[in-house]
Amino acid sequence: MLIKLSNGRELPMEVHKVRIVQKTRLVPIEERLKAIQEGGYNTFALRTKDIFLDMLTDSGTNAMSDNQLAAMMVSDDAYAGSESFYKLAQAIEDVLGFKYVLPVHQGRGAEHLIAKVFVKPGDVIPMNYHFTTTKAHFELAGAQVLEIYADEALNTQSKHPFKGNIDIEKLKETIKKYGVDKIPFVRMEATTNLLGGQPFSIENLKQVKQIALEHKIPLVYDGSLISENAYFVKLREKGYENKTIEEIIKEMMSFVDLFYLSGRKCSCVRGGFIATNNKEFYEKIKPWLPVYEGFLTYGGMSTKEIEAMAVGIREMTDLNVAGSAAEFVKYFAERFIENGVSVVTPPGGLACHVDATIFLPHVPQSQYPAGALAAAIYIVSGVRSMERGTISMDRDPDGNEVFSDLELARLAIPRRVYTVSQIEYVVDRISWLFKHRDLIKGLRFIEEPPVLRFFFGKLEPIDDWGRKLGEVFKKEFGANF
Ligand code: F0G
Repeated sequence: MLIKLSNGRELPMEVHKVRIVQKTRLVPIEERLKAIQEGGYNTFALRTKDIFLDMLTDSGTNAMSDNQLAAMMVSDDAYAGSESFYKLAQAIEDVLGFKYVLPVHQGRGAEHLIAKVFVKPGDVIPMNYHFTTTKAHFELAGAQVLEIYADEALNTQSKHPFKGNIDIEKLKETIKKYGVDKIPFVRMEATTNLLGGQPFSIENLKQVKQIALEHKIPLVYDGSLISENAYFVKLREKGYENKTIEEIIKEMMSFVDLFYLSGRKCSCVRGGFIATNNKEFYEKIKPWLPVYEGFLTYGGMSTKEIEAMAVGIREMTDLNVAGSAAEFVKYFAERFIENGVSVVTPPGGLACHVDATIFLPHVPQSQYPAGALAAAIYIVSGVRSMERGTISMDRDPDGNEVFSDLELARLAIPRRVYTVSQIEYVVDRISWLFKHRDLIKGLRFIEEPPVLRFFFGKLEPIDDWGRKLGEVFKKEFGANF
């Protein structure tokens, strides 16, 4: 819930009590320098013991509710026919309106199955924007991903309320250019992750569906951040102010042929599923489920997580749950902007994204400004963010670097985990870093994996800038911070 203070500021207000906590520790600057050096300047290589606030991702790191934890205690571990699965299937039918459900171990398991069943070499897949694992799976199946967003989507300083929209004219041209036979489906990603958590409007979804339907092309919906997209529709789209999140979700689903999500995000568990009302699609995917994920009634998930997901799917329709991350992102972004730090606007749904191109204009894309910024943030604060820029793009088949559209350091907001005082700390340290940004230089690879290189790649700082930054920090804050 957003509470308006007497000074006019809107404060994210928790409408829950914290009853279980995990200790965290701010390790001194020298230890942080050692940890980032050993991790090859890649925040994925850091260990929890060295991290103060973990804002790498909201995936699998959200706080669960008491009702979710309680549900885990009554799970049914049957390999086949687990009652936990039927509870999940019922929740999905009630909330999303789909009859057929295929559980998977996490979102990318769904992407793998969809790629396996629907995508053939030479296909093209239009979408509002890619996600890393989505692109990897569709490309491994021999297809090309086509991102057909409006120009505004890449303007990080925009005020456009729906930067996740597909450009309708470009979609029509794409279908004309490639032909229906080469397009297995159109994919819409809710609260478009790599654009900075930006939603699409229902109006846009409706138009995309209409065009897809005219050409008999199915519409696939990645709902990993569905409740946030519904939250933004309620806030920003005319005519939806008085609708509930549940009603908005139901309306969105009425346009969807095949749905999947990573439950690690908005249902606060570890798992995922595919859902549809199309029996033929269901029957096509079903035989492959036990091959790659697990039997139909668990799909690689623990039955405890299935129980918690059944509760989480219902809880995500609560306005306070749907908005819990977005409200913090809004506050975070406003505080950054007050301090002169440029972040993606409008504030999105899963994280506050610092624009590394504006923060580090002196670092060229070939030296990975977003990766350098993520490492620098860790050095000065112990806060772990994630590079979402060129390191997150793999090279093309000829080995050429593919520059990312955006260079962002992503500070994710796991739902119901961090507090305003912790956000204030992050804003303070990054604002300090902004004043000393000249100390930050680029990175270069010393070990580069062939696929999804951002996970395991190792880099080094050009001119050993990390150490120099550490020295300046120590002079200001002392060796203990
Ligand atoms: N689709 C979207 C939109 C995602 O954000 C993710 C994961 C996936 C698919 C894959 O799901 O991780 O359960 O296999 N996003 C995480 C992130 C990893 O950090 O943003 P998964």
